[in-house]
Amino acid sequence: MRARLHPAKSELYSQLPIDRLIALVENGGKVRTGVDLFNGRGVLLLEKSVLVADPKILRKVKAQGTMSVPIADRGGGGVWDRKGRKISLPEGEPVQPLFADKSVTWPKLSKDVELKISEITEIKLAAARRYELAKECIKKTLDSIRQAGGEFDLEPISQTVGELVDFVTVNDNSFAYLTREIFSYDDYLYNHSINVCTIGTVIMQRFNSAFSTAVNSFLNDNPEGPPGAAPRDPGAFVYYTSSELRNISIGYFLHDLGKVMIDPEILNKAGELTAKEFQVVKSHVTDKVERVLRKNKLSDPHIVNVCLYHHAALYAGEERCYPQQDHHLVPSYVKVCKLADIYDAMTSIRCYKGALNPVSVVSEIFHHYARKDPFLQYILHSFIGSVGIYPAGSVVYLTNGQLAYVLDSDGPILLPLTDSGGTPLTKEPEVVVMDRGQITNSLAIDRQQPPISPLEAYRILPDYLRRTLEAGRRQKPVLA
Ligand SMILES: [Fe+2]
Ligand SMILES: [Fe+2]
Repeated sequence: MRARLHPAKSELYSQLPIDRLIALVENGGKVRTGVDLFNGRGVLLLEKSVLVADPKILRKVKAQGTMSVPIADRGGGGVWDRKGRKISLPEGEPVQPLFADKSVTWPKLSKDVELKISEITEIKLAAARRYELAKECIKKTLDSIRQAGGEFDLEPISQTVGELVDFVTVNDNSFAYLTREIFSYDDYLYNHSINVCTIGTVIMQRFNSAFSTAVNSFLNDNPEGPPGAAPRDPGAFVYYTSSELRNISIGYFLHDLGKVMIDPEILNKAGELTAKEFQVVKSHVTDKVERVLRKNKLSDPHIVNVCLYHHAALYAGEERCYPQQDHHLVPSYVKVCKLADIYDAMTSIRCYKGALNPVSVVSEIFHHYARKDPFLQYILHSFIGSVGIYPAGSVVYLTNGQLAYVLDSDGPILLPLTDSGGTPLTKEPEVVVMDRGQITNSLAIDRQQPPISPLEAYRILPDYLRRTLEAGRRQKPVLA
């Protein structure tokens, strides 16, 4: 797959195989692309002015599925051998990136569409700010555990998590989707803590309100549980109060705190772990975390259970789970944490792997856990309903080749950006509401193509849409 380019002026680029560049840099050479390089999701892989002298960077770019890299001579790009001599490149081919044509104009967007876009901008900016504040908080906490031998202050964590919970309660899945970060290898644990907290909280809220009441009334009539199920711990079916939910979210935020005491080499290992290494990783939910919890006198059962059991089995016989625990006894909020944890790990970029398409991740998780346990089905449905696959502000591919901007995740409601040949539209298109019969079989969201998240989508939007987004931003300053 070729790396995608957007938005940039049409120019001549020499396209070089990534393996050739890796070999060159391994031998002491250097590379500069001279043009920003994005993956298929719109994530920046390589900034145009970076002089790459470390093959690891190119291997990470390759891990994103990029097999050839453009080098823009006019943008300062080039390839140099170990003695610093510039290597002449094969003649470039013209590349016409999306939305490069600045002359594209539309009639004024309708008021409704403008309003919708301005709301999206507001949420996006607020989410980005919340995310940064939460990141500072988790960084301080984990650093303090490392440096002060396990001690940390719960008060700022409680406040930060409270703000995150309030935010996702109002804005639902948009926030969870915004948390995909660019180049987050070094601070993966910080991002992961926030992502599991926000995604887990949204799932838990949905589960608590939509399913627990139904399950509780069902169990009142059927104390033995659903047909075919083993007798289960009634604790797994309780309805959680808002203060319990708050502690559950704190547990999600802190779930991996035991990892700060584990060798990063093992945590970042690309291949299969040895038996000994696996034992070390497992210790983040046993002795390592127990010591920190004890030292900080953290005894709330929700926080403790999440920290200790978020890798426990969700059904009888599930493999590579730890510690050993009867899945009937694992509370629902811990099961939610495990699903959020798996979802985030699979959809995030790690130093040893690229991010997977959220659509296929959701379907993979669903197929793995579906029909394994009657009670787990309730949690699984909350998970599917909560994880926003097409949040407002993202860009999706349609099966007929069009690109479309998501105005509302409920539907979803889409604003097409290109025609089926990928050419930017020059007239304001009809807004497409996917669930109101306005579509034919030939027009659906292409599930094979990963959607481009709101934060990333901004870079590839055509000028007219960016101007509308920026106008919305000026009108409504957000977040204190
Ligand atoms: Fe973990
Ligand atoms: Fe985790």
